[in-house]
Amino acid sequence: MSDFSEHADAEQRDVERPAKCELSFTVNGTSRTVLVHPMERLLDVLRHELQLTDAKEGCGEGECGSCSVLLDKQLVNSCLVPALQAEGANIITIAGLTDGAQLSTLQKAFLECGGAQCGICTPGMLLSARHLLDRTPLPTLDEIREGLAGNLCRCTGYMQIFEAVSRAAKEENARRRTGA
Ligand code: FES
Ligand code: FES
Repeated sequence: MSDFSEHADAEQRDVERPAKCELSFTVNGTSRTVLVHPMERLLDVLRHELQLTDAKEGCGEGECGSCSVLLDKQLVNSCLVPALQAEGANIITIAGLTDGAQLSTLQKAFLECGGAQCGICTPGMLLSARHLLDRTPLPTLDEIREGLAGNLCRCTGYMQIFEAVSRAAKEENARRRTGA
């Protein structure tokens, strides 16, 4: 292909591709502004623009839950969310679940119970568990199963994860009762 036709093709692509838009939101307590293409996925903005690689890509089709984030306290698959939908939103990734510089009770319970193995599902599992415990502080096993149902794990057989969520729920509840 000649230089001229390559240049013409590049110009054509620029004409066809919509211009980038400014997008502002808060992620893990920090205000961020980025330039994004209108239909860019929130997952790509987090991972590639902001280097927040704690949101993982598994299926890319809304099936596995590994890309989960909390968007204004709602659990969403960031591979399915157009980034512009996050304008003005408050986003939490797994990095935002820590207790200051320490792991949270929930994160510690996953480690202690063997609920985190290869780690691919762990961000989604933890965010789904946080979403569940914020609404149902002492869930039954069935409620835990239901709360985590959108997340696939190939390693653990799920029982260690359910046990971790149950343990964290009991510890958080005990702390609430004692005011510790
Ligand atoms: Fe988003 Fe699997 S990568 S649900
Ligand atoms: Fe490996 Fe769940 S720990 S997929």
